[in-house]
Amino acid sequence: MFKISENTLRIQESATMAITAKANAMKKAGEDVIPMAAGEPDFDTPATIVAAAKQALDEGFTRYTHASGTPELRAAWAKQVGQARGVTYQPNQFMVTAGGKQAIYNIIYALVDPGDEVIIPAPYWVSYPEQVRSINAVPVIIQTLADQDFKVSPQALRAAITDRTRLFILNSPSNPTGSVYSRAELTALAEVLVEKDVPVLSDEVYDALVYGEEFTSIASLGEEIYKRTIVSGAASKTYAMTGWRIGYAAGPADVIAAAGRLQSHSTSNPNSVAQKAALAAITGEQGTVEVMRQEFDRRRQYMIARLRAMPGITCPEPHGAFYTFPRVAEHYGHYYRGERVDGSMTFCRLLLEHEKVAAVPGVEFGNDEHIRLSYATSMAQVEKAMDRLERLVKELD
Ligand SMILES: Cc1ncc(COP(=O)(O)O)c(C=O)c1O
Repeated sequence: MFKISENTLRIQESATMAITAKANAMKKAGEDVIPMAAGEPDFDTPATIVAAAKQALDEGFTRYTHASGTPELRAAWAKQVGQARGVTYQPNQFMVTAGGKQAIYNIIYALVDPGDEVIIPAPYWVSYPEQVRSINAVPVIIQTLADQDFKVSPQALRAAITDRTRLFILNSPSNPTGSVYSRAELTALAEVLVEKDVPVLSDEVYDALVYGEEFTSIASLGEEIYKRTIVSGAASKTYAMTGWRIGYAAGPADVIAAAGRLQSHSTSNPNSVAQKAALAAITGEQGTVEVMRQEFDRRRQYMIARLRAMPGITCPEPHGAFYTFPRVAEHYGHYYRGERVDGSMTFCRLLLEHEKVAAVPGVEFGNDEHIRLSYATSMAQVEKAMDRLERLVKELD
C-alpha cells in the first residue's frame, strides 16, 4: 500500500536483531541467559545526577530549550571538552544532541551530499555506514587488521581518499575493538587529512574509558587538524546515562550551525530535564567515573586472560571502551554437535542456543572472524560467561 522511500530501503536491518530477539525470548521463558552483547554500562546513573533531574522537574524545567541546548550546558560542556583536549570551543562551536548518535547523524547530514564518499575503518560501529547510506552517500570501508591493533595506517587512509571524499570517521577508543590510537598514530593520520583537506568526525564517546594508555583526541594535534575536526561524544557511557539521551558535537562554528538547523527542524532540543542532569554530571565530582573505569578494567583483564587460554581463540588487547573482540575463526569449518560453524553468526547462535551466552557476531561490524563480548556486566556474570564459552569451544571438533 505504501511505497517505502529509497533512503530508508537502503538501511539494512541489523542481523543481530535475530540473536537479540532470541536472547530476549529465552530470558522471558526463564532461561539463564548471560548478556555479553550489552552496549551500555551496567552501573546506575550516579545519585547526584538523578537528584539534579528530580530538582529540574520540581522546578518546572519542562519546556522547550534552545534547539542546540541550554546556554548553561553548552558553555559548561564546551569548556570541559575543550580543556580536556587542550583546545578551545566557544559555545557557538558546540551543540547538545539527543545522544552521541544524533550528533553523528547531524554532522554527516551537514557535510555530506548524495553520492559523496565517507571513509569508515572496519571493524566499525554499526550505525556509521547505515547513517551514510540513509542519505544516499557511499561508505568507503578500509579493512584493518588484528595484528595492527585494528588501526588505519596513513597509507591506507591516503589510498581511500578520492575527489568525492567528504568525511573520515574515526572512533578511538573503538567499538567494537577497544583499540585506542596513540598520539603518534593520530599525528600521522592528521598529516594526511590536512594535506588532502578532508574533514574528520572523531567519535570520542568512550574517551573516559581507557586502560593503561592515554586518550588523545585528534583535535588536539595542532591548529590545522583542529579546524578540520568535529568531535562527537555523550554523557551516555561516561556517566552511565544511556537512556537519558544526551550527547554533543564540537567543531567549526559554521558546521555546528548547519547541524543545529537540521536538529531544530527534526527533533528540536534534547530533553530539558536530561540536560539539567547532564550539567550536574559534567560539573559535579568525577569520582564515580573512576570507580566505574577501574571495575571495567578489572573485568577486562580477567576476560583477556581467560579468552587467551581457550583453544582456538586469540584476543588482541583492547585498551578502551568495554568490549573484547576475540578471534574465533580458527573454529570455522569445525562442528559443534553435528552443526558446522561457518562464520560469526553461527558461532554466536550456537553460543546462545547451547550455552546461553549472548554475544554479537563480528560480521555486524564488518569482520566475520571475530565476535564482540561486552564486559559491561557484573564480574560474576563475566566469569560464568567465560566458563560457558570455554565449554563450547572445547566441544568443537
Ligand atoms: C562508537 C559509538 N558511538 C556512538 C554511540 C552512541 O551513543 P549514544 O547512546 O550517546 O547515542 C555508541 C553507542 O553504543 C557507540 O558505541
